[in-house]
Amino acid sequence: MALTHRQLRERFSKFLVSHGHAEVPPISLVPQNDPTTLFTGSGMQQFVPYLLGQKHPQGTRLFNIQHCIRVQDIEEVGDNRHDTLFEMMGNWSLGDYFKKEQLQNFFTFLTDKKIGLGLDPKKLFVTVFEGNEQAPRDTTSIEVWTEIFKRVGISSEIGERIFLYPAEKNWWSRAGEPKNMPAGEPGGPDSEVFYLFDVEHDPAFGKECHPNCDCGRFMEIGNSVFMQYKKLDDGSFENLPKMNVDFGGGLERLLAAANNDPDIFHADINSHIVNGVETATNHEYEDPSNQKAMRIIADHLKTATFIIKDGITPSNKEQGYVLRRLLRRALVKIRALNNSFSAEAVAPIVEQVVQTYNGIYFDAKVDTAKIIPVIQDEISKFQKTLDRGLRELEKLDEINGTIAFDLYQTYGFPFEITQEIMSEKGIKLSKEEYDNAVKTHQAKSRSSADHKFKGGLADQSNQTVKYHTATHLLHQALFDVIGDSVRQEGSNITADRLRFDFYCDNQPTDEDIEKVEKIMNEKISQEIPVNMKVMDKKEAETIGARSFFKEKYPDEVKIYFIGKDKEDVKSAYSKEFCGGPHVENTKEIGEIQIKRFKKIGSNMFRIYAK
Ligand code: ALA
Repeated sequence: MALTHRQLRERFSKFLVSHGHAEVPPISLVPQNDPTTLFTGSGMQQFVPYLLGQKHPQGTRLFNIQHCIRVQDIEEVGDNRHDTLFEMMGNWSLGDYFKKEQLQNFFTFLTDKKIGLGLDPKKLFVTVFEGNEQAPRDTTSIEVWTEIFKRVGISSEIGERIFLYPAEKNWWSRAGEPKNMPAGEPGGPDSEVFYLFDVEHDPAFGKECHPNCDCGRFMEIGNSVFMQYKKLDDGSFENLPKMNVDFGGGLERLLAAANNDPDIFHADINSHIVNGVETATNHEYEDPSNQKAMRIIADHLKTATFIIKDGITPSNKEQGYVLRRLLRRALVKIRALNNSFSAEAVAPIVEQVVQTYNGIYFDAKVDTAKIIPVIQDEISKFQKTLDRGLRELEKLDEINGTIAFDLYQTYGFPFEITQEIMSEKGIKLSKEEYDNAVKTHQAKSRSSADHKFKGGLADQSNQTVKYHTATHLLHQALFDVIGDSVRQEGSNITADRLRFDFYCDNQPTDEDIEKVEKIMNEKISQEIPVNMKVMDKKEAETIGARSFFKEKYPDEVKIYFIGKDKEDVKSAYSKEFCGGPHVENTKEIGEIQIKRFKKIGSNMFRIYAK
């Protein structure tokens, strides 16, 4: 019997609990108050302040299962192992255990037949950081792995069982290798475990196969990052206050290894969704000529369903644009398989996504009905655009890389489709030309993405922190003026402004908004201290601390409160579930002006302030 994703989750949780770890709930896919990234991309996202040295309320041994999106992998989707949405099963040691215990524990989890996955140790291969001018070779991990393999009777020469790679492969930070890390960012060498599948090496990927070869014979199933460095302004590294472990293993890939099947779309975490795609397109997945398109459809619609669940709707900006691109690309692929597809037919796919994760991320009863119309609406709108785009393409009697890329950007036409349609008319378009146009575009967007990343992290200490505290004041002031129907729907902070979305029963008037602004400035000029207290979740709820309903909270929570008495949370003006950071006193915020107030949906409103 194949291992199911629910069984895998349970085994992982049990294993970590038995090793003294506390479970931390996953955070939203759309990080709150974090302008550095569009989507949560790894399990460690919520732990950054703790890896940098803050104390975590749940202790020094933590684990979670975090849903993540890596949009940068979108072009890779279509093979048997890439996806844009995945779940990371992670564990953390915040200055508690280090290399020896981490590597041994993960090995036990992978190989133990009773409490782990029972994988054959012979099928496991590991990689270790080879060292550079900034950080030495990770000889400890080499020793630990040698010992672990020796105990199960496997010889582990370097280049045979243990492979050394440079920072490009065996260093991890949110920004990648050391040279890409902004100052202040934590990172460190890592050690990855690969699973060997019983497939032939494909020489198209290089003469010899090795763990980091892309032919698909080896699959990375877990990464132990030894978070011990922080990058400094001058580009060098200093040790973090504590030596931490940040471990993450892809749930879909661990499932593939446990079932010894290299196609992640075969396991039950994807197979029902793929069945939905079969119904919608009237094609069979097991026919190899359909697989690429069907994986893209399944992956993109799954990711879209999750993004919508976390409160995003299709738009031309940021997360909304990613959502739009995913839906468009999925539709183009569906249409390629089934020309007479209508938007209604998307329902079985979305239903399967929600069912697959029912009780984990979704409530099937409520969510199916909410999400399907959003997708159908976007898809049917795009179908019209797509028809127009196709007509446009019919008219063209010449094409070049830039036009093709433009068609991709505007209509979501993948290069292959443009190429195919043009070639039917006898017009050639080279992949090289297209790639050049893409590269020019990427160089541009990369510099803006780098800027975004740096901008956010560098700002952590000043303006964004001020806006973060101002957001708490705004939240409470809305309750003061509008009443108890106010419900936070999301917030977003950049160095330039804060944005706050909320629901309430009745449309607030302009006077209401003026009052809110006045209250915020009163609280700022009253120079009220801001403090934090760790408390029991129930107690925090009883005293009326504001929380964000889209977030799940652990039993022990951090409450930031803004009140004259540093000891008395209850009487504080604002109290809110929050990870911080915040200013110490409201006077640091300076004057706040509400710049814009608008309606963004039925009973949904948005405020911009600076
Ligand atoms: N944070 C590490 C990763 O994402 C574990 O690979």
